[in-house]
Amino acid sequence: MNTRDFLSIKDFTPLEIRYLLALARQIKANPAAYSETLKGKTLAMIFEKPSLRTRVSFDVGIHQLGGFSLYLSPAEINLGKRESVYDVAKNLERMVQGIMIRTFAHEIVEDMAAYAGIPIINGLTDYSHPCQAMADYLTLWEVKGRVSGLKLAFIGDGNNVAHSLMFAGAQLGAHVWIATPPGYEPKADAILWARERGHQTGGTCTITNDPAQAVGGADAIYTDVWASMGQESEAEKRRQVFLPYQVNGRLFGQAKPNAIFLHCLPAHRGDEVTHDVIDSPRSVVFQQAENRLHAQKAIMVELMKDRAVPVPELVVEEETVAGR
Ligand code: CP
Ligand code: NVA
Repeated sequence: MNTRDFLSIKDFTPLEIRYLLALARQIKANPAAYSETLKGKTLAMIFEKPSLRTRVSFDVGIHQLGGFSLYLSPAEINLGKRESVYDVAKNLERMVQGIMIRTFAHEIVEDMAAYAGIPIINGLTDYSHPCQAMADYLTLWEVKGRVSGLKLAFIGDGNNVAHSLMFAGAQLGAHVWIATPPGYEPKADAILWARERGHQTGGTCTITNDPAQAVGGADAIYTDVWASMGQESEAEKRRQVFLPYQVNGRLFGQAKPNAIFLHCLPAHRGDEVTHDVIDSPRSVVFQQAENRLHAQKAIMVELMKDRAVPVPELVVEEETVAGR
């Protein structure tokens, strides 16, 4: 892989995405083989928004690879106010070997990557959440045995999580349906990109305002909070608008009988999903959360490894993600 940063699923080839998923699966199966792969390397983690999974999985992940982490809270850095993105990048590149950043505008991670001579990993922006999508498709692959040709229905807001699911689904040949209230559809450029890439892989991207149409015959149902971080002031309005898009037992029952339920978490039971769905045996949300760790270890290994030090050979066949 030549790509040095992990800013968007769009920056990779279909083969590279499959390779990363295969590597994640291998690391999950044999973590001890990678315990010194990033020995002595430090990952700085810049958070401008709250987090449970992203913080813990990157923190634990880099330690399991032999490295160290450094948590930088919103108050500490105050990116762009206390100090410019440029100066933060230029300081950190002298002291650490990688930066994970969770922020608001997507341009901030792009700027950081342009300025810093070390790998930058997108830990969520208002536009995308690529590490989440890697864990999501890893989970689908584990549970369903393949990703290519599967129908995944995302119900709710056409947000950062929806965008990355569309991108990764297109890379992997999946059929991604997004059902949103009118006015909350994914960004037009994201839809266009997913459809274009799908021409190469057999993947499709369908946008609708009808949740029942999206879930019909689906292999997996996915939802996310109705008001994302930074949209707290819209929460009440959104609760009214999104109510018909709640993933409840009735809607989940219209998917395939063996359909699984996915959620990036945190979840608001009683809003976007009901207890009976998220706490059902077909909900794999905690397996999905665990897979953040394995997927991100693969990303860190690939981006931060010392090219001179050998890493275990990949024996998991990345082609199997396509079900071949
Ligand atoms: N899914 C996810 O990114 O969770 P956190 O916001 O807790 O990191
Ligand atoms: N769409 C959510 C995802 C949280 C992991 C948000 O941006 O808050």
